[in-house]
Amino acid sequence: MRSFAHAKGSYLSIADLYKSVRARTLEIVAPLEIEDYVIQTAEFMSPPRWHIGHTSWFFETVLQKFQPGYKTYSDEFLFYFNSYYEGFGARIERPKRGTRSRPTVRETRAYRAHIDEQMARFIERVSDRDDAESILSIVRLGLEHEMQHQELLVYDIKHLLCDQFDAPMRPAPPSVETVSGMAEIEGGLFELGVNESGDKSPHSKNHDFAWDNERPQHKVYLEDFAIDRALVSVGDYLEFMNAGGYQDFRWWHSAGWEKVTTEHWQAPLYWEQVEGEWIIRDFGGLHRALDKAHEPVSHVSFLEASAYAKWVGKRLPTEAEWEKAATFSPATSSKQSFPWGEEEPDETRGNLFENGLWAVAPTGAFPKGANAYNCQQMIGDVWEWTTSDYTPYPGFKSDFDEYNDKWFVGQKVLRGGSFATPRSHIRSTYRNFFYPHERWMIAGFRCAK
Ligand SMILES: [Fe+2]
Repeated sequence: MRSFAHAKGSYLSIADLYKSVRARTLEIVAPLEIEDYVIQTAEFMSPPRWHIGHTSWFFETVLQKFQPGYKTYSDEFLFYFNSYYEGFGARIERPKRGTRSRPTVRETRAYRAHIDEQMARFIERVSDRDDAESILSIVRLGLEHEMQHQELLVYDIKHLLCDQFDAPMRPAPPSVETVSGMAEIEGGLFELGVNESGDKSPHSKNHDFAWDNERPQHKVYLEDFAIDRALVSVGDYLEFMNAGGYQDFRWWHSAGWEKVTTEHWQAPLYWEQVEGEWIIRDFGGLHRALDKAHEPVSHVSFLEASAYAKWVGKRLPTEAEWEKAATFSPATSSKQSFPWGEEEPDETRGNLFENGLWAVAPTGAFPKGANAYNCQQMIGDVWEWTTSDYTPYPGFKSDFDEYNDKWFVGQKVLRGGSFATPRSHIRSTYRNFFYPHERWMIAGFRCAK
């Protein structure tokens, strides 16, 4: 362990990370009008005001626990901005977050500013404490939590406003090569999960942070398998739709067929039919699906991804298969942090939040992000559904009660991050999870065999 007493300079780095992460949340919401902040358009989304308050509430719980004499800002705010933590007392039910106009947006921003001021002082003085290391780990966790909410904000703003939101979009890079076929990857024993011996310093800025659910690394056995080099595209998915995919029970799990019949699913979320033609609505406006044929399909549920895979004669990968494809270097027979190696993600390797596209990029736009088998866009663009249930790895130990450990039932694992994921928040071992029917997230898939 690094000695904190002699590492004063490192404190600046967590202070800087705090400032930059907190600032990005406000950048994301900057184009919103005041009326936009309080509306809840579906039970599964939250009003933007709630996110900016909740991410501050998280740090207030740190202050309450570790700052002697800290005075709670407001009991009403504790009630409104707690998400689901039983351990932190009563809270408003999630579907009701949009039923109140108070706390107002102005009050929520003042609360946020108050917490920032308190946290800045708290981080500055933490070095004198014996428990500095564990406190800074929780601050770091709070920043990773905030990055998760930044991504949720993008999903929720899309649901709220979609093309009416004035997203600061940059043009997508063009496709520079054709990506096709399946990569054949050898099976055998594979070390699934993040390596414990990595630097777990709370100051490190990038992929050496890992959630408890990525640990411990453990051996799994894989058969030889093949995995798509490219994400399933809008064009591929249109073929499934045009072949009557949504009208044929044979491709669907029972839970999926139920959605098709009771909720009348006919296409991914945000697709509309206009004069017999499929149109996709996104932050950039309305587009003919045919004009997006070479982009990854997104806003599909696990149920739809599975139906497509069955129709095309394949299946979805397990998370272990996905992780092997995204980390294994056959040249050195070893595991690396990213499909391309150890370097951090950048603009040329994957479509993540900092690229500023606010949209998926075409297939073949990131050849530098390829793995050794030329599988592309594994990091960024869309989270990828796997068949794996979200359950604890053998030997799992919770780092923070009620954070990851209470969700180990009924959800599926997704991998790889999306265009809404901050760069410093993603790595190949990252396990995201959602319910099989959910599709307001930026999620797509690739198939395996
Ligand atoms: Fe949260």
